[in-house]
Amino acid sequence: MRIAVAGGTGRIGRLVVREIERRGHEAVSLSRGEGADLRTREGLADALRGADAVIDVTNPSVATVAEAEETFAAITGNLLAAERSAGVGHHVALSITALDAVDGNPHYFGKREQERAIRAGGGPYSILRATQFHDFPGMIADWATEDGESLVPPLLLQPIAPLDVAVALVEIALAAPQNGTSEIAGPRTEIAGPRTEDAVDMARRTFAARGDDRRIRAAWRGSAMSVEFAGEVLLPGEGARLALTSFDDWLASGAA
Ligand SMILES: NC(=O)c1ccc[n+]([C@@H]2O[C@H](COP(=O)([O-])OP(=O)(O)OC[C@H]3O[C@@H](n4cnc5c(N)ncnc54)[C@H](OP(=O)(O)O)[C@@H]3O)[C@@H](O)[C@H]2O)c1
Repeated sequence: MRIAVAGGTGRIGRLVVREIERRGHEAVSLSRGEGADLRTREGLADALRGADAVIDVTNPSVATVAEAEETFAAITGNLLAAERSAGVGHHVALSITALDAVDGNPHYFGKREQERAIRAGGGPYSILRATQFHDFPGMIADWATEDGESLVPPLLLQPIAPLDVAVALVEIALAAPQNGTSEIAGPRTEIAGPRTEDAVDMARRTFAARGDDRRIRAAWRGSAMSVEFAGEVLLPGEGARLALTSFDDWLASGAA
């Protein structure tokens, strides 16, 4: 099969491209850096020519709710329209667990628009919601650092290895589209890691593995996430597929 990967140069995208090729299929990556822009549609038709499926793992940077909703709706609409023209038979999108349970930050508003556009598009699709990746606590610690101290919210997570997400996306792209037949959490619509973790502990261990000597302080105020993410809100629903790679395994692999 020929599978186009929108955002194929990103953190998840690179792993998706590698997994498609490892399975003996053809991967075509499209990103602005490679001359294909979902926003302007430049290079899009060329990248999708002959593709059987598209996996969307783009991650546009957005600052406000209005910008997020407009951007995600526009790029998803452009991608779906280009897929229709090219006769692509399956649109696979990566989304986020608990998307409807919290208002969240602008990214969450954008992701809801993305899912809405896909469901309203009428074409063959599958949406996989994933929990936070193992590198997420280190990333949000980086976002809120001042005077050598990083503020990390005490989130309860069930994080997953980026490679496990990539493998699941490719398996879904190679199978028949779900078309929203199952909106309930299930092994093909939601994926999480094997066990719950504390984001502050994960961030400290990530920094230690990187040799980063910044201090980490548990805090909601001033951190990258609001208190609406407290409690069990970010945990996967019943029936979610549980991937095998734990945070310990991921750290031990040197991936941090
Ligand atoms: N981090 C988490 O814990 C987590 C959890 C669940 C789901 N997710 C989802 O995972 C997805 C991927 O995240 P990531 O961290 O892998 O992203 P990333 O590393 O930031 O990569 C984003 C990719 O999108 C491309 N891109 C951005 N704007 C584009 C445009 N207008 N046209 C074409 N390509 C564009 C980028 O390339 P160019 O810049 O060259 O265009 C890059 O290849 C996101 O949608 C996020 O919601 C993340």
